[in-house]
Amino acid sequence: MNNPTHVAIIMDGNGRWAKKRMMPRTFGHKKGSENLRKLSFYIFDQGVKVLSAFCFSTENFKRPQEEVDFLMNLFVEKFYQEFEEYKKKNIKVVFSGRRENLRSDVLDAMDKITEETKDNDRAILNLCLNYGGQYEVIDAMKKVISSGQNIDCLTPEEFMHFFYQDLPPIDFLIRTSGENRLSNFMLYQASYAEIYFPEVHFPDFDEKEFDKALDIYHKRDRRFGSIKEK
Ligand code: FPP
Repeated sequence: MNNPTHVAIIMDGNGRWAKKRMMPRTFGHKKGSENLRKLSFYIFDQGVKVLSAFCFSTENFKRPQEEVDFLMNLFVEKFYQEFEEYKKKNIKVVFSGRRENLRSDVLDAMDKITEETKDNDRAILNLCLNYGGQYEVIDAMKKVISSGQNIDCLTPEEFMHFFYQDLPPIDFLIRTSGENRLSNFMLYQASYAEIYFPEVHFPDFDEKEFDKALDIYHKRDRRFGSIKEK
């Protein structure tokens, strides 16, 4: 089996990683953001074409304001700091999620990295920010209706073109930190994804851990609803 085309990661466990080191949760988010940068380049070097990363869910606004502010500031800082590198490495950065409720400086930073990398074509980093999978389906439905497309003939594949980004389905979904659930992340796109729940917290999910994950992916038997040929 080839390496997956679309990998998705739920980057869980930043807070626990920091707590284990007697550090504030925000320290874990900072480490997590550094890990995502490094790991994304490694993942693209393995031939993966799309990496979707869950950065902030619509529900994460319920966290203490101090943590929300920290994360938003981190996004602004990193998008301005990192756009040159993504540009140089020919990686296109896109966003999935609702723009409403995001601060204007966050939107500006998102727009900057999107604009600077829009012509890149080696791979796509899809950052899911203020993202909810159920809202994505509702927002796609609204687009279908306003496009005037005949819903009776709409296929599951065509429907995906109306999502926040027009991306292939997820082949391999990883959630770090040992929680065995999807938490409203790309539910539709993950319909036939292989799912893997490593115990390590996201800041420790490094290149070696990704290699281990890929080995597990290659041992899986993907049948997409059919039966196996003997
Ligand atoms: C979940 O772990 C993690 C998040 C809600 C934030 C993820 C964000 C990053 C890794 C930073 C990404 C940065 C950029 C610049 C794209 P948690 O805090 O819920 O951990 P816990 O379950 O141990 O409490």
